[in-house]
Amino acid sequence: MPTSRNTALERVDALLDQPAETVDGFLDLLGAADQAGPPTGVTQRLMRTTLLPQVYERYWRPALGRALKGPFGPSMAGEVRLATELLGLKPGHTVLDVACGTGRFTRAFGAAVGPGGLAIGLDGARTMLAKAVAEGGPDTVAYLRADAVHPPLGESTVDGICCFAALHMFAEPETALDSFARVLKPGGRIVLLTSARHGRQPARLADSVGGFVSGQRMFDRGEIAASLRARGFTSITERYAGVTQIVAGRLR
Ligand SMILES: C[S@@+](CC[C@H](N)C(=O)[O-])C[C@H]1O[C@@H](n2cnc3c(N)ncnc32)[C@H](O)[C@@H]1O
Repeated sequence: MPTSRNTALERVDALLDQPAETVDGFLDLLGAADQAGPPTGVTQRLMRTTLLPQVYERYWRPALGRALKGPFGPSMAGEVRLATELLGLKPGHTVLDVACGTGRFTRAFGAAVGPGGLAIGLDGARTMLAKAVAEGGPDTVAYLRADAVHPPLGESTVDGICCFAALHMFAEPETALDSFARVLKPGGRIVLLTSARHGRQPARLADSVGGFVSGQRMFDRGEIAASLRARGFTSITERYAGVTQIVAGRLR
């Protein structure tokens, strides 16, 4: 029997390691704080504005994504498909979409995990989550306002974690990766889309300047794969397009 949206929120609430209030259709652990964790710059700040979430999914993300991925990178639909495949989602799985924005990926994951599964969209921006809730989607989806670096879930609670277009804007990305390994079940899968600086000059310098100005960290090629390996992930795959990398792995 399909779970109701209310039930999905209750099921997420039951997984949390601290009490949460339901506000405007999502669980809120940040209360009056505007920002999850220390601010990292202009891009992260833009995400909290009222206007950006309204145009994010349709215009902003596809356009900026294409500019960063280059002509041969995956389309938005291709990214969603790839993330779903690399997570190996099955009916009944619980999946955490970290920094979910307006929930485009979360909704697809909610459909992939079927009526007995759960797709949790976590983000720090109220305006993004308000738009995600307004977009609707499968009854298996619920949203949570919390700090992505420290997801408020117990150890070994989820089967999959997706974190697309966000790790580079966290104040402590390495701590976030520690947290992701903590909340994933053994055998659980992770997929990340983040920045990838070119190896050669002058492109490398241009990437670094762009990252500095926008407040986003530019990771090196191979850096995320090595970070995952160090945390016990295996079966790691890496895909590079423009200044982006999609890295996936499975927790031992
Ligand atoms: C570029 S959007 C990515 C949205 C979606 N994952 C996608 O691929 O389109 C980045 C998101 O990260 C969120 N974010 C940034 N820092 C965060 C933090 N420390 N905790 C929670 N969310 C954060 C922003 O609010 C924003 O919604």
